[in-house]
Amino acid sequence: MNIVVSGASRGIGKAVAQYLDQTGHNVLAIARSKGSLEELLKQTKNIEVLIADLGKEESKTGVTEFLQKGFKVDVLINNAGQLINKSFLECSSEDFLNQFQANVLSAVHLTQACLPYFNKGAHIVNISSMGGFQGSSKYPGLSAYSSTKGALAILTECLASELTDYGVSVNALALGAVETEMLQKAFPNVKAPLTAEQMATFISDFALKAATFCNGKIMPVALSNP
Ligand SMILES: NC(=O)c1ccc[n+]([C@@H]2O[C@H](COP(=O)([O-])OP(=O)(O)OC[C@H]3O[C@@H](n4cnc5c(N)ncnc54)[C@H](OP(=O)(O)O)[C@@H]3O)[C@@H](O)[C@H]2O)c1
Repeated sequence: MNIVVSGASRGIGKAVAQYLDQTGHNVLAIARSKGSLEELLKQTKNIEVLIADLGKEESKTGVTEFLQKGFKVDVLINNAGQLINKSFLECSSEDFLNQFQANVLSAVHLTQACLPYFNKGAHIVNISSMGGFQGSSKYPGLSAYSSTKGALAILTECLASELTDYGVSVNALALGAVETEMLQKAFPNVKAPLTAEQMATFISDFALKAATFCNGKIMPVALSNP
């Protein structure tokens, strides 16, 4: 299958790209860090990389140029994200805007760029968080981050409805704690019960298989919170 993974320079996205490469899929791996993507390219067989800041609308041009070369998309995993850990009172409007740009607009831009290139039956998986799952425990310092993940969940439901004519299913996974740089920023004293590699197997298998079984669903994938 042909798979686009955003946020693939480290953490969960990198592990997803590596797992999909090892299991014989073609992967377009996207992130901003040139050096990390070049390393990933060296270590893998079926991966192509694209350096792009997906929070910016101009990033759509680079994605389109790549897909135009003949890469029809079966699976899109909107995994790119950032986290700011700051008290609500101290958060500026710029902090909120940056979080929405990185966590919501990145998925908007990449999905829009991929839309003309999806195969029928394609699957979009948005990587949300337990922090953005309605009714879950919430934590101080994460109001901006968690509200972006809640927005991504509702965007998932909206697109599941709006993209039916394209034959595309859209679901979101609300992840619990996974051992990455981001988790350390949010919860410096927490040791997560799962590694990025462990979570990557679940995300990849879900992305490859679940479009037949669900659409517009927000699923918690958590052993603990945080
Ligand atoms: N770790 C957890 O416990 C946890 C829990 C719940 C949800 N999640 C979600 O899982 C996803 C992956 O998180 P992680 O823990 O693996 O985080 P991470 O290690 O910080 O990795 C984040 C990835 O997103 C990329 N990225 C950030 N902003 C981007 C942008 N504007 N354009 C393109 N790429 C961008 C980063 O690459 P560059 O810096 O190179 O661009 C990096 O590859 C995120 O959406 C996160 O919110 C994680």
